[in-house]
Amino acid sequence: MNIASFPEGFIWGVSTSAFQIEGATSADGRGPSIWDTFSADRADACDHYHRHREDVRLMKDLGMAAYRFSVSWPRVFPDASGKLNAAGLDFYDRLLDELLGAGITPYATLYHWDLPQALEDAGGWPVRDTARHFADYAAAVFDRLGDRVDTWFTFNEPWVSAFLGYGSGIHAPGRKSAADAFRAAHHLLLAHGLGAQALRAAGAAKVGTVLNISPVLTPGQVSDAARPLSAEDAEAVARIDALGNRQFLEPMLRGAYPAEVLPIIERTAGLGHVRDGDLELIAQPIDLLGVNYYTPLVVQAQPSEPADPAYPGSEGVLFCTVPTAVTAMGWPIVPGCLSQVLRRLAAEFPETELMITENGADFVDVVTGDGIHDVERISFIEEHLRAVRVAVQEGAKVRGFLVWTLVDNLEWSDGYQRKFGLVHVDFATQRRRLKDSALWYRDVIKRNGLVE
Ligand code: NOJ
Repeated sequence: MNIASFPEGFIWGVSTSAFQIEGATSADGRGPSIWDTFSADRADACDHYHRHREDVRLMKDLGMAAYRFSVSWPRVFPDASGKLNAAGLDFYDRLLDELLGAGITPYATLYHWDLPQALEDAGGWPVRDTARHFADYAAAVFDRLGDRVDTWFTFNEPWVSAFLGYGSGIHAPGRKSAADAFRAAHHLLLAHGLGAQALRAAGAAKVGTVLNISPVLTPGQVSDAARPLSAEDAEAVARIDALGNRQFLEPMLRGAYPAEVLPIIERTAGLGHVRDGDLELIAQPIDLLGVNYYTPLVVQAQPSEPADPAYPGSEGVLFCTVPTAVTAMGWPIVPGCLSQVLRRLAAEFPETELMITENGADFVDVVTGDGIHDVERISFIEEHLRAVRVAVQEGAKVRGFLVWTLVDNLEWSDGYQRKFGLVHVDFATQRRRLKDSALWYRDVIKRNGLVE
C-alpha cells in the first residue's frame, strides 16, 4: 500500500467548543451566556460536562494526539459582580488531567462565542471595556490551568462574533447594527492583543488565535481557479476578501487595517473607537495561527445589490450559489481552496506557523443496525487533507489538522439537526457510536497519511 504521508510529528486531533457540547448550563455556579439567552435549543444534549471521561477515552482509542476545546467564560465569571467562580474552573481541571493521562495534548481556546450575558448587558463587544474584561478572564484561566496547557488560542473566528452577532443578527446576541458590528470587530481585535499580552506575561508557552479564512472567488473561478476577472469582479472579490479575511489578519499580523476597510469603518461607525496605540497592541507576536476552513465565498459584481448585513460595505456585490457539490448546510465543497488559503498565508506571513484548527462537514447520517456509513464525510475530509498535503509539500508550515468535530452537537442557530461529528450521539440515551469516518480517521492517524 502506498501512503501519501504527512511530515513526522504532524499533529492529528479534533476540535470542539464549550457551548456546543458541555451542557450543564447552571452547574457549579455557571452564569448565562449570550447563547443561553439567544438559542432556541437547550444546550444540554451532549452532556460532555458529565461525560468528558468517556469522550476523552474515545479520542484516546482513536489515537488522537491533540484536542482543542474552549473554556466557557460564564463558568469562570458568571455575573456582573466580576467575582471569579473557582468551581467553574474545576471542570477544566478534571478535563485536563484526563487528557494528559490519555496522552492527548490540550489546545485551549478562550473565547468560542459564549460571552457572559452580564457583559452583553453592559454593552457587549461594541463596548471597549469588554476587551479589558477579556484580558482579566484570560489571566484568571491561565493562573489556574496554565501549568497544563502549552498552546492558548485567544479567539475563535472573531469575524463571526462581530458580524453575525451584531451585524446580521443571526447569531447571539442577535443585534443588527453595522456600526456596532465594526466596533465589536475592533474590540475583539483589541481583546486578542490584550489577552495575548496577559498570557505572555503570565508565562504561556505559545499564544495564537483562530480565524475563519475563506478564499473569495467568482462563480467562474470555482471550476477554473485561473479564470481572469473583469475589473468589476476583481474589485468585488478584493472588497469581500478585505472585509471577511484581511480585516482580522492584517491588524493582528501587520498592525494595520486594510486600506479598503478603513473608509468603510469610518463612514459606518466613525473612528472614535479606534484609539492611538490600539493597532500596536493588537499586533502582539503570535506563535501559531489556527485556520478554520469549510468553504469559499463566491461573489460577483452586481451594481444594484444592497449590502449584505453580515458584510457592511458590500453594496454592489452579489453572494452567489454555484452548481457544485454541497454539504447538507448547502456549503460548496471546494477542497482546492484549502491549498489556496495555506499557500496565501505562507506567502504573506512566512514566519507564522499554521494549524488547521477546523475542517469537517455536515451530512445527513443514516444510522443502521451495523453502523453509520458516512462515506461523504470521509471523502470530504480526505480531499481536504490532500489539499493540505499539497500546501505542506510546497513549504507551508502547517503543523497539524483538527477535524470539526468529535461528537454531533449544537450547531448554533441551526440547532441539533446538523451533524458534524465523527461520533454519533443518541441525544435521548447519550449513547456514543463511532461513525465510519471515526474509524477511517483512526487509520489516517495511525499511518500518518492517506492511502494513495
Ligand atoms: C466554525 C465554528 O467555530 C464552529 O463552532 C462551528 O460549529 C463550525 N464552524 C461549523 O459550522
